[in-house]
Amino acid sequence: MTDQPLWHGRFEASPAESLLKFTESLSFDKQLWRDDIVGSIAHVRGLAQAEIITLAESEKIILALNTVATEMSSGKFEFVASDEDIHTAIERRVTQIAGDTGAKLHTGRSRNDQVATALRLWCKRELAHVAKLTLDLCDVLSTRAAESGWGADGVYLPGYTHMQRAQPVLLAHHFAAHVWAMMRDVDRLTQTIERLDVSPLGAGALAGSSLPLDADFVARELGFSRRFNNSLDAVSDRDFVAEALFDIALIGVHLSRLGEEWVLWTTQEFGFAILDDAYSTGSSMLPQKKNADIAELARGKSGRLIGNLTGLLATLKAMPLSYNRDLQEDKEPLFDSVNQVSLALQALAGMIATAKINAPAMKSAADSELLGATDLAEWLVARGMPFREAHAHVGALVSKSIRDSVKLSQLVAADKKLGPDAVSLLNPGVGVARRITKGGSGPVPGVAQSAELSAALTVMRTRIAALNNTR
Ligand code: ARG
Repeated sequence: MTDQPLWHGRFEASPAESLLKFTESLSFDKQLWRDDIVGSIAHVRGLAQAEIITLAESEKIILALNTVATEMSSGKFEFVASDEDIHTAIERRVTQIAGDTGAKLHTGRSRNDQVATALRLWCKRELAHVAKLTLDLCDVLSTRAAESGWGADGVYLPGYTHMQRAQPVLLAHHFAAHVWAMMRDVDRLTQTIERLDVSPLGAGALAGSSLPLDADFVARELGFSRRFNNSLDAVSDRDFVAEALFDIALIGVHLSRLGEEWVLWTTQEFGFAILDDAYSTGSSMLPQKKNADIAELARGKSGRLIGNLTGLLATLKAMPLSYNRDLQEDKEPLFDSVNQVSLALQALAGMIATAKINAPAMKSAADSELLGATDLAEWLVARGMPFREAHAHVGALVSKSIRDSVKLSQLVAADKKLGPDAVSLLNPGVGVARRITKGGSGPVPGVAQSAELSAALTVMRTRIAALNNTR
C-alpha cells in the first residue's frame, strides 16, 4: 500500500518509473510542509464542525498531524518512493499513525484546493519577509544618506544623465532615490499579500462538495481575511504567484541598477567607494584584484528573476479552467525568486553598510566647472534673457573652453553678459546648494526630504508589522 500512490484505486498497473520521476514535486515542495499541516488542521476542524467526523476523530487526526510536524522539523520524517508531493506524503503518514481515522483526513478536499491553500499561506509569510528585508536595505541606504549629510556641508557627487556628468547632487539625495524606489516595492508586496489573502479551501477538486463543509469557517481558522467566491477560479488562480514574481523581478531590477552603480563607483576610474574586505572578492589569478561580486551578482540575478516571471506567465497563458498539472510549475520559480532576492537584499545591505565613501573623489568630480553651465544659463535668465538664448550663449562658452583648453571661469569673467559676478557660480560646492525646488537635490529641499523619508519608512515598518505574518 505505501509503495502505491494515494490515487491507486482506479489503476491496475503500478505507475512507470519515468512517470514518477517526471511528475513528482516532493523534491521542491517539501518546504510547504508547515503550511500543508496548518491547512490540514483547519480542514479537520471544519470536518468536525460540520459533523462529518466526530470531535474525538478530529483530535486523533490533529494529534497525528502534530506528530508529523515534529518528525518534519526534527528531520526524522521518512519519505517513501510513492510520495509524489509533500501533501500526499503527509496524508500517507497521518493514515499510518491514525489508521482508519487518519484515512478520513482528505474527506471533502482535493489536492487542488489543498495545494492552493498551502501556497497562499506560504506566500503570506515569505513575501512579508521579503518586504522586511527590502525595508532593511532601505534603512541602510537612508542611514548612509543621513551620515553623508542632507545639509549645506553634505557630501555631493555628480548627478548623471546618459552616464554623462550633469549637475552636482547631494549623495544623500542619490541614496534616497533608491530608497523611494524600494519603498514602492515594499508597498507593492504588501498589496500583493492583501490581494492573495483569500482561502481557496473548500473548493474541492473544482466544484465544491456535497458534504456540508463551511468554507468561511476554515478561512477564519487559517487567518485568511476572506474565502473564495468561485470554486473553479479558486483552484486555477495563480495570479498571486505571478504578482509575487513580478514584485520580486522589479526588486531585482532595482537591485541590478543599484549594483551597476556600485560596480562603477568601485572602479579605479570612478573611485567613489571602497568595499569592505568582507564584502568583496579576490581573483584566483590576479593578486591585486578586489572585485564587487555582490553588486555584479545583484545585476546578474535580476535576469533570472525576470525569467521566473516570464516562465510562469507562459505556463499560465493557454491553460483552460480549472486545475491542470501545469500549475505545479508555479513552485520552483516562486521558491527560487524568493530565495535569491532574499540573499541579494541581505548581501547588498551588508556591502553598502560597510563600504567606505570617498567623499573627496565624489566632490572633485562634481566640482568640474562644466557642471555649473546650467547655473550660468539660469543666472542670465534671472537677468531677463530668454532661456534658449542663455543656453546657446553658455553653450558657446563651453565649446570655446573645450576647444581652446581655457578654463570656463576665465571665459565667464571676460564675458560681457556674465562677467566676474557670475564666476562664483562655478566655485566648488556652490552648484549643489542652488537646487532649491521641492524634491530637488540641494540642501534646502533635502532637509524636508529627509523628514519625508523617515516618516515614509516608519509607515512602511508599521504596515509590515500589521501584516502579522511571523516567520
Ligand atoms: N503536486 C501537485 C501540485 O503542486 C499537487 C496537485 C496534484 N493534483 C492533481 N489533481 N493531480 O500542483
